[in-house]
Amino acid sequence: EKGGWSSFMAKEVSEEPDAVANTLRGRIRDGAVSIPELDGLDDLFRDISRVVVIAAGTAAYAGMVGKYAIEAWARVPVDVELAHEFHYRDPVIGPDTLVMSISQSGETMDTLMAVKFARERGARTLSICNTQGATIPRESDAIVYTHAGPEVAVASTKAFVAQITAQYLLALHIAAIRGTLSATEIAQHVLELEAVPERIQHILDTEQARIEQLAHWMADTRSVLFLGRHVGYPIALEGALKLKEISYIHAEGFAAGELKHGPIALIEPGQPVFVIVPSPRESALLHSKVVSNIREIHARGARVIAIAEEGDASVLPISDEVLRIPLSGPMSQALLAVVPLHIFAMGLATAKGLDVDQPRNLAKSVTVE
Ligand code: F6R
Repeated sequence: EKGGWSSFMAKEVSEEPDAVANTLRGRIRDGAVSIPELDGLDDLFRDISRVVVIAAGTAAYAGMVGKYAIEAWARVPVDVELAHEFHYRDPVIGPDTLVMSISQSGETMDTLMAVKFARERGARTLSICNTQGATIPRESDAIVYTHAGPEVAVASTKAFVAQITAQYLLALHIAAIRGTLSATEIAQHVLELEAVPERIQHILDTEQARIEQLAHWMADTRSVLFLGRHVGYPIALEGALKLKEISYIHAEGFAAGELKHGPIALIEPGQPVFVIVPSPRESALLHSKVVSNIREIHARGARVIAIAEEGDASVLPISDEVLRIPLSGPMSQALLAVVPLHIFAMGLATAKGLDVDQPRNLAKSVTVE
């Protein structure tokens, strides 16, 4: 039920803090990660030599975010594959490959077919899924459920943050087994994750109304670009997908570093560009690279909407709007930066008078290939 909300999507965005908190719940003990569903599978995580993530749409972007954490923390190479491309090639997989599917519904046919194919090739399979007892988890050797609660709106929002959270937990779980992080390091990452729900809530409390106002002013916009680097890159892709999906506006996400390799040609006066700015405290280098990208597009007249950490003043002179997110570590920044983008897409679709829960031509669960 929608309760007092104008749409399921509005309700589900408001539940993003809970989606993260519920996915963490029961999986953290004394500063360490303990995932009861994975008991007895330590050998699997010790033996694999790579992870292949299989998913579609928003779930694939969650997988792209997860890759940064699994590689940085667990030191296992990760490839992220679109399910519908995967088994139509002749992919190199075998018993040393962990094929990790990500699916909110657990029924996406493309993803299911890819998981079945991987099993036939002898790969081990793990399913990250939001729907208890769905088909994909039933076809997998191991399951980590996201506990976002039922998602009704076609556009995935709270499930997306839960999918990232589950992968961060998994990355720490594998890191503990493989000894790639110390207990102290794991405890620090756990603390950081535990702080995410209240930080998301802070964004909803302090920035939601402003972002909706901004979306309202931009209701006639024909095209919006999104730029990010590191985990901000898949978040930029997610921001663009959500906007096209529910507001029918042309939108594209890019890795900020790609700008000079082509996309900068799109910049003309007035072009709105969202830029996700890495924390200057966490990485001065990444931050300075993105700030210089902003300078380049600002100089060409782009209308820059920066998503930047509180207190980062460097973006002020070169941005038209600055949306603030709380201080965080580099991985958890993904979970914060996506929230303004979800609010923006919803705000713009609402300003255009569209049905945000039921966008045209789309189904919640894509059960055909
Ligand atoms: C976008 C969206 C879709 C789904 C995709 C996979 O907002 O909802 O891109 O993410 O169809 O669906 P699941 O996660 O159910 O496999």
